Amino acid sequence: MSTKVIIDCDPGLDDALNLFMAFGDGVDIDILGIVAVAGNVGLAKTERNTRLLCEIAGRSDIPVFAGCDAPLNYPLATAEEVHGGEGLEGIEIFQPKMPLQSQNGVEFIIETLRSAEEHSVTLVPTGPLTNIAAAIIQAPDIIPKIKEIVLMGGALREGGNITPSAEFNIYVDPHAAQIVFDSDIPKIVFGLDVTHQVLVSTEVMSRIQAIGNPVSDAAYNLLKSYNVFDSDKYGEDGAPLHDPCTIAYVLKPDLFKLKACNIRVEADSPITRGHTAVDFWHATDLPRTSHWAYEVDRDGFFNLLIELLETYS
Ligand code: RIB
Ligand code: CA
Repeated sequence: MSTKVIIDCDPGLDDALNLFMAFGDGVDIDILGIVAVAGNVGLAKTERNTRLLCEIAGRSDIPVFAGCDAPLNYPLATAEEVHGGEGLEGIEIFQPKMPLQSQNGVEFIIETLRSAEEHSVTLVPTGPLTNIAAAIIQAPDIIPKIKEIVLMGGALREGGNITPSAEFNIYVDPHAAQIVFDSDIPKIVFGLDVTHQVLVSTEVMSRIQAIGNPVSDAAYNLLKSYNVFDSDKYGEDGAPLHDPCTIAYVLKPDLFKLKACNIRVEADSPITRGHTAVDFWHATDLPRTSHWAYEVDRDGFFNLLIELLETYS
């Protein structure tokens, strides 16, 4: 039975690769809808980019919604320096033909979950957790309908990428992250500790370049831009492929090593806002509702990425 999924994203260069993986031909995922959130760039661009990516991949059949345009409490912080002013540096930006759904994205999440079977829908957020938290606040009755939340966010052993102690998605909306992490919803969490193990090396770029279909070409050009900023920042060969760890897990969970932990979020400290306190060594008796990813089969991950990009040929 296909995994029923709602993707929530802020494209965003790595969000784009995650969507291309999820859209791959023959992929056993039933995408109920995609909800855009403000994050890497503002909501007007993340929702447009989501529709643009659907059209590039020939998936205009998937309904795209706009969710929240700002975090629950803080003003929006964006990351144009990483993703470009339009959020998809490296490819031509066009106005998609497919329409944006008129229903608000948070309403879509609530309505879809209310009509779903118990524990049947996987949420895959790869941006700030604003939409997910807003849905939980407005409709706590949806919680039993969620199978698990497979999210990109947080850091334990890796330093932060937006402040010394915080990863971007959690930093942008730490109050939303608190609601998600404090809930008893099962979470699979891909933080910088594991995403920094999947850097897009020159060798991987050559493999992608050799595929030669419109989607792999778009992926190559997006990654070329993405590598510039992060390679300089980290002094590594290639940028970390953060968001694609989520769909890679949905498709091949055995690629990753996970540990059940409690994770709490600092929301208000001016120094550590957005910090994820991952209780990896079980120093507390707090409920271990998260599975923290700490290791990945790097070759298996990139083989999966290449395989999925090849399905568009
Ligand atoms: O810290 C990395 C995360 O922030 C990724 O989801 C990237 O797209 C940005 O949203
Ligand atoms: Ca993202």
